[in-house]
Formats: sequence, structure tokens, C-alpha cells
Amino acid sequence: MHIHTLAALLLPLGSQAIDIISSNDDGWAEINIRELYSALTDAGHSVVISAPAENESGSGSDTGTPTVLTEECEFDSCPVGSPAYGYNASEPRFNYVNSYPATAMQYGIDTLGPKFFDDSAPALAVTGPNVGTNLGLVVLFSGTVGAAVSAAASGIPAIAFSGDTGSQTAWDVSPVPLYSQVYAELATNLTDHLVASGTPYLPDDIWLNVNFPAVDDDTCNSADQFSFVLSRIYTAIPLISGDDVETCGTDRLPTETEVIDTAGCYVSVSVGKTDKLDADATLQAVVLDKLSDLLVCLP
Ligand SMILES: *[C@@H]1O[C@H](CO)[C@@H](O)[C@H](O)[C@H]1NC(C)=O
Ligand SMILES: *[C@@H]1O[C@H](CO)[C@@H](O)[C@H](O)[C@H]1NC(C)=O
Ligand SMILES: *[C@@H]1O[C@H](CO)[C@@H](O)[C@H](O)[C@H]1NC(C)=O
Repeated sequence: MHIHTLAALLLPLGSQAIDIISSNDDGWAEINIRELYSALTDAGHSVVISAPAENESGSGSDTGTPTVLTEECEFDSCPVGSPAYGYNASEPRFNYVNSYPATAMQYGIDTLGPKFFDDSAPALAVTGPNVGTNLGLVVLFSGTVGAAVSAAASGIPAIAFSGDTGSQTAWDVSPVPLYSQVYAELATNLTDHLVASGTPYLPDDIWLNVNFPAVDDDTCNSADQFSFVLSRIYTAIPLISGDDVETCGTDRLPTETEVIDTAGCYVSVSVGKTDKLDADATLQAVVLDKLSDLLVCLP
């Protein structure tokens, strides 16, 4: 047994609290990012949201100088004329940036991090859970991925979370949709496993692309019914793509699309590089080892 696996068994999950910067592309006032904030905070982490003022879905790795609001923030969460950077006066950890996801993430790392995290950089960046999956080629256009990749490129280990179920929904909806609660719990579960595996949480310049399958009333309706499967982002090209890490009796990982499409409740976990391509077998092996007590094989 590896030392860190032993440590993970001895320490209750969540007992190691870390500083986390959080962004998305669906906007700072979308329910999923707020639910994830609550779940990570309940697990003991110190979380700060730095996310776009508006829906910036599909903006990839775009960046731009934030501007004064010429219309309301999404869901009327701030008035016309609000400054380029703002926050909820009664909850200063909820910050918006009127620009793209990657710009919001950089502001979080450079400006909010030092302010909230005792002058230090965030230990981890999380994005999403995105409304809708980000699988395969879609990864290239996703702002949720763009923000995660921007963090990874700045030296912050990052995880992009996306979920199949739901539509963009305001933060103050009541009751909170079940899918939003389940995705937040699953994201916290994976985060806590990664944290329990010790530093560095991920190799340099590596991020995880995590996709949750649909939540429905009958089957996949609570976090404990889901399992996590190591996957690759793109379909391997014969003779060109190198082998994947050997696991589940093969050196070819399932694609994240295959994982999500498998009957049951399987969450895909792919290992990405900052060029948004799949990491090689050696880097996949680091993640496999770190998450070994969480990952399962597809049936
Ligand atoms: C958010 O933006 C995306 C991409 O432009 C668009 O498809 C989607 O409908 C928008 N969502 C809302 C609620 O307007
Ligand atoms: C700001 O925070 C307060 C207190 O938590 C909450 O009632 C309000 O809905 C929040 N508004 C936004 C836009 O986050
Ligand atoms: C977290 O993952 C473990 C291992 O798969 C599982 O036993 C547990 O039920 C999960 N908890 C939640 C809240 O998802």
C-alpha cells in the first residue's frame, strides 16, 4: 500500500482544508457554482468565487479587459452601470468580473487570492459545474475548460467539472435542483480525494476534465450511486496516439463520451495538458495513483 493511500484511510476526508479559487462560464450567479461553493465550504475549504458577470458559455480561452456593465448582470444579479469588477456586499467571497472565464480566473488568482488567502496563491482551482457536458472536441470551446486551463498554466492545479442535466438557473432558485446538489457533492468528493492524496495535487501544467452523467429521478439520483472512471478526452488515433496508462486490464482508456454513455452512473475523469490534449501515460498514471481508491472500471 502506498503511503498516501494509508494517509487517506487514516484521515477522514475533508479534514485537510485548502484555499480554492472557483470560476465557470455560466456566470457568477448561476446555481451550480453557488452549490459547489456551499459544498466545498461545508467540507471545510476556504473558497472564493471569481466568475463572469454574464453567461460566457463557449468562450474557450478568450481573455479581455473587464468593462463597466452596459446591461444587468445575468439574472439581474447586478444593475446596469455596475463596475467592471464587483462582489456581493453581504458575501464578499462571491465576485464577478465583467469579462471572459479565463480573465475572471486570472483576477481570482492574482488579486482575490492574495486578499482572501493570507497573501498566498490558491492551492487549487475548480471550474463549473458547467451546465451541460464538455466532452471530446467541445473541450476546445468550453469557457469552463478555458478557465481551468488558464489556472493550470499559472501553476495552480485545476479541475473542470461539467454535468449533463439542467439549464442555466439563477442562484436564488428554490428549491435547489437535485442535479445541482448531486454534482456539487460529487465534485467535492473528488476534490477531497485529490487533496487527501497530498501535494502536489496534480503534476505541473495538468488539469482534470470531469463530466457527470445525467441525474434523474429513478436511478442516478444521489451522489453515492455514482462512480468515477479514468478516461481520455479524444478518441485515440491508431499508430499515432501513444498507449494510455494500463488499468482495468488494458492500456487504452475509454473516451469520456464512452464513460458517460455507459448505462449506470459513471463520471469520467480525463487528464488534460494546457494545450487541451490528453496527457501521456506517465501523467495519467500519477492521477490513477492519486485517485486509486475512487476510480472503478467500466463493466
Ligand atoms: C448562454 O450562452 C450560450 C452561448 O452563446 C447560449 O447557447 C445559451 O443559450 C446562453 N444561455 C442563456 C440562458 O441565455
Ligand atoms: C448576496 O448574498 C446575500 C446573502 O447571502 C443573498 O441573500 C443574495 O441573494 C446574494 N445575491 C447575489 C447576487 O449573490
Ligand atoms: C465519495 O466516493 C466514495 C468512493 O467512491 C463513495 O463511497 C462515497 O459514497 C462518495 N460520497 C459522495 C458524497 O459522493
